[in-house]
Amino acid sequence: MKKILVTGGLGFIGSHTVVELQNEGFEVVIIDDLSNTSIGVLDKITEITGIKPDFHQIDLRVKSEVKNFFENNKVDGIIHFAAFKAVGESMHKPLDYYENNLGTLVYLLQEMRDRKLDNFIFSSSCTVYGQADELPITEKAPVKTAESVYGNTKQIGEEILRDASKAHDLNIIALRYFNPIGAHPTVKIGELPLGVPQNLIPFVTQTAAGMRKELSVFGDDYDTQDGTAIRDYIHVVDLAKAHIAALKRLISKRNKQNFEFFNVGSGTGSSVLEVIKAFEKASGKPLNYKIVGRREGDITAAFADTTIANKELNWKTEKSLDEALESAWKWQQAQN
Ligand code: WQD
Repeated sequence: MKKILVTGGLGFIGSHTVVELQNEGFEVVIIDDLSNTSIGVLDKITEITGIKPDFHQIDLRVKSEVKNFFENNKVDGIIHFAAFKAVGESMHKPLDYYENNLGTLVYLLQEMRDRKLDNFIFSSSCTVYGQADELPITEKAPVKTAESVYGNTKQIGEEILRDASKAHDLNIIALRYFNPIGAHPTVKIGELPLGVPQNLIPFVTQTAAGMRKELSVFGDDYDTQDGTAIRDYIHVVDLAKAHIAALKRLISKRNKQNFEFFNVGSGTGSSVLEVIKAFEKASGKPLNYKIVGRREGDITAAFADTTIANKELNWKTEKSLDEALESAWKWQQAQN
C-alpha cells in the first residue's frame, strides 16, 4: 500500500483529499500545525472512511522537526497544502507569508532530495494568471505579476519546484486551482473560515444562516453581462479527486516532464449575481445583499480551459454549481 504525506491535511481542501486518498486505498499520514483548522477534523475523516490517518502536529517552519519526521516516515508521495492563504492578510504580513509558504516548501524539497523521495503535488492557484488576456484560461496563458503577496508565493513556489525538479530529477505537478467551494456530501467536513469570511461562498452561507446582516457584492460595474465579476467555482470533492489523478500520473510515471502544471476548474464562469441566484434556488432562502464598491486587487473574470487537465489527468468535474452550493448550505446548517 503506497503511503502518502498530506501537509495541511486537516484543512479545507486537504481533508477532502485525505478522504479520497483513503477511498482509493492509499495509506495517509497528515502533518498539520492546526493554525487554521481543528483536531476534530481528524475524527470526522475517520468517521467518513473508517480509517484513522496517522497525524503529526508539526510546524513545517521548524527545519529540525521536518527532518525528524522524515527520519521516521518513508513516504511514496507528498501532497503539499500547508500554507497561509488569505489574500488581504498577505499584504500586511508579507514576511510571514514568504516564510511559511516558501520556507516550508524548500525544507520539504530538501528532504526529498536527500532521501531520494519522489512524487510531489503542489497546491497552486489561478491567481498566477492575474487578469488573463484570453478566456477561458489555458496553461499557455502567461503568468502575470502577482496582485498579492499570497499570489506571489504561489508563483515563486512554482519557480522553486521547476528548478528543484530539474536539478534533482524530482517528479512534480502543480495544480492551479480556480475557486474551491462546497463541502463533503456526508456534511462531516467542509470549509471552516476563521473570523469574518473573506471568500464569497462562506459569506453567503453565513448571511443565509443569519450570522451576517447582508452580503456586500464588490462591484457591479465590471465589463461582464450583469456587471459583477466572474469566477470558476469548483466543488471541493472534484478538486480533491484531481489530486488523486495527478498523484497516480506521477506514481505510474505517465508525466511528460519533471515539472508539470494543470488548470483545475469546472470550465464554467459564474458571476456573483448568478451565484446568489443559484444559492437562493439551492437553499430556498432569499439572500440579503447590497452592491458596494469594487474590492482592491479583484480581477473581472477568470474561468478555466480544462482541456489539458481532462486529457492528461483523465479527470473532469462531475458536480454542478448547484450541487456545490447545496452542499455548502447543508454544511453551514450543520455548523449552527
Ligand atoms: C469571489 C468573487 C469577489 C466576497 C481568492 C484567491 C484565490 C483562492 C480563492 C486561495 C469575487 C466576490 C467575495 C464578498 C463579493 N484562494 N465577493 N463579496 O478573490 O476569486 O479568489 O480565493 O487559494 O487564490 O485569490 O475568491 O471568494 O474572495 O471572491 O462580492 O464578500 O466574489 O469580488 O468577484 P477570489 P473570493
